[in-house]
Amino acid sequence: MSRAKPGEGKLAVVTGGSTGIGYQLARRAVEDGYALIICADEAKVKQAAEKLRRLGGEVETMQVDLSSRDGVIAFWHKIEGRQIDLFFANAGRALGQAFHEQAWSDVKRLVDLNILQTTTLLHKVGRKMAARGEGRILVTGSIGGFVPGPYDAVYDATKAYLDSLSYALQDEWRDNGVTLTCVMPGPTETPIFQREGNKLQDAPIAQSESKDDPVMVARAGYDALMAGERGVVPGFTARVIAMLSRVAPQSLLAEIHRRGAEPE
Ligand SMILES: NC(=O)c1ccc[n+]([C@@H]2O[C@H](COP(=O)([O-])OP(=O)(O)OC[C@H]3O[C@@H](n4cnc5c(N)ncnc54)[C@H](OP(=O)(O)O)[C@@H]3O)[C@@H](O)[C@H]2O)c1
Repeated sequence: MSRAKPGEGKLAVVTGGSTGIGYQLARRAVEDGYALIICADEAKVKQAAEKLRRLGGEVETMQVDLSSRDGVIAFWHKIEGRQIDLFFANAGRALGQAFHEQAWSDVKRLVDLNILQTTTLLHKVGRKMAARGEGRILVTGSIGGFVPGPYDAVYDATKAYLDSLSYALQDEWRDNGVTLTCVMPGPTETPIFQREGNKLQDAPIAQSESKDDPVMVARAGYDALMAGERGVVPGFTARVIAMLSRVAPQSLLAEIHRRGAEPE
């Protein structure tokens, strides 16, 4: 007789589950037997769902722009009546380029997605889980949050916000049955560096072959989530940056970031 999988009969919700780290997190959840709801901004979320279904999963999708209030409300309406066992607050974008050269509409959209609407969903999902006294949340923060990020300054600042919010909420929720884990990846090989409209593709880090594997990053995040850990920094490079950020002056950290991020 085959053993029941840990997620059988349970639901995982993944924002930004169509590509990169989010797709790999969704994959891990499906392999554990969870039913899935994944959302993303573009129509290819449906293709991602098809691939996940081939692994034996029950997968619902929603194509929705989570940088807009209407998008977040629509997504919340889809999930609010369901029992959410795992919630992955993962959707995010980066921009590249110097701050003053970025279009304000792009900067605002980045802040709206990475901070405002992610916080909105965390508030709604966190309340629901706290009322039930059970649930697990994984926030995709970044080691970008540990360092000043010239040539993606607002992005790194949004991740500093998410890293900080995560550690604060874990403390508030220490006794209510809800766990919140923050995965803080270093540079990871995903489509984030090649997105239309961002200038990251011209940065040395986009060409670097030393970026981490999203499978490894997602595995570390997922395992930490399941173990109820507070935070995890996956991969050697990311851990070195994390250690350096505790001892090096901000000006030096900024310079190191500039070398990897300044468009060539
Ligand atoms: N890659 C790295 O080096 C790295 C390092 C640290 C942290 N992170 C974080 O990891 C998370 C995932 O990024 P990734 O690297 O895996 O990049 P990715 O492959 O570009 O994935 C981003 C995901 O978010 C979705 N998304 C983006 N904008 C959205 C919007 N407005 N509404 C709904 N969904 C949206 C994307 O869907 P669409 O394609 O449909 O837009 C996609 O599913 C992000 O929070 C990122 O900041 C990445």
